[in-house]
Amino acid sequence: MHKAKVAIFISGGGTNMAALLYASLLDGAPFDVVLVASNNADAGGLEIAAAEGIPTFVHSHKGHSREDHDAAMEAALVKANADYLVLAGYMRILSDEFVKRWEGRILNIHPSLLPKYKGLDTHKRAIDAGDSHGGASVHIVTPELDAGEVLAQVRVAIRDDETPESLADRVKFAEHQLYPRAVADYVSRGYDADYLYERVRKLALALPETHARDSHGSPGFRVGTEKSGKFFAHFNNQHHGQEHIAVLVKTSGMDELLDLVEGQPDVYFKPAYYGASGWIGLILNRPGVDWDHVSEWLERSWRSVAPARLTRLMDAADEF
Ligand code: GRF
Repeated sequence: MHKAKVAIFISGGGTNMAALLYASLLDGAPFDVVLVASNNADAGGLEIAAAEGIPTFVHSHKGHSREDHDAAMEAALVKANADYLVLAGYMRILSDEFVKRWEGRILNIHPSLLPKYKGLDTHKRAIDAGDSHGGASVHIVTPELDAGEVLAQVRVAIRDDETPESLADRVKFAEHQLYPRAVADYVSRGYDADYLYERVRKLALALPETHARDSHGSPGFRVGTEKSGKFFAHFNNQHHGQEHIAVLVKTSGMDELLDLVEGQPDVYFKPAYYGASGWIGLILNRPGVDWDHVSEWLERSWRSVAPARLTRLMDAADEF
């Protein structure tokens, strides 16, 4: 089984980090913790991680600009070969550039039922508002604070005599169940052929006049009529014994294909048979797939075989 390499950033007690770490040690866990790093040398979680033999790293933010501090933390991530960064009570805001470089690969846990109560004092705000439940949310980190896609949530009932402290304690228990599950699901889905196919299918069929059709035992997508349509994409799930789950799209020809494969071998490969006629494999079972990029390739490939009446329509739509 593929195991994702996860780094965890903490600033405090690190109970969520510990929950993640022990979850990673269970049989069948889809991720390993490869680094625990902190901006605070006193963060209790560092000792827990070190005791379990996990590499740790500390770099105080004091006296450093955000960019410099981020750069030191990122260097540790790169050195640890991390695929994903999981924030667990990390009390620093990451710079936009950092977040963009790791787009889709940073997760955070926030102690509220997002989109409610972004920022601080979440438990007090939920109690003061008379909410029936508080809770926690795991979300993808984007440059805007606590605003990325919510992946999973857990609800925690607010009792009559609740205080922010008592609610925070129970939310922590709930977080410890939620976070390892959400991280496991997230890092696994990028290697799950059904999930990847579904994403490709949605993008491919969003293009005008398209339909799905199998070809040589693999699903594919065509543009045009059922009768005379042409393939613009093929979905390969570890086809011909290779390790990739990939979508095959059309390049302009062998020069471009070989340039891409040589320049970015972790993203592209030359597929068996199809490669000879300019189809390139865009690898999907890897961390940090940029789905806008996949979508652009699909559109480009669609354009290369679509009838002129459809590409003209698309050009007109693009102008708006
Ligand atoms: C958690 O409540 C989490 O929701 C928030 O920070 C807290 C971290 O606690 N982001 P711990 O350090 O994991 O105990």
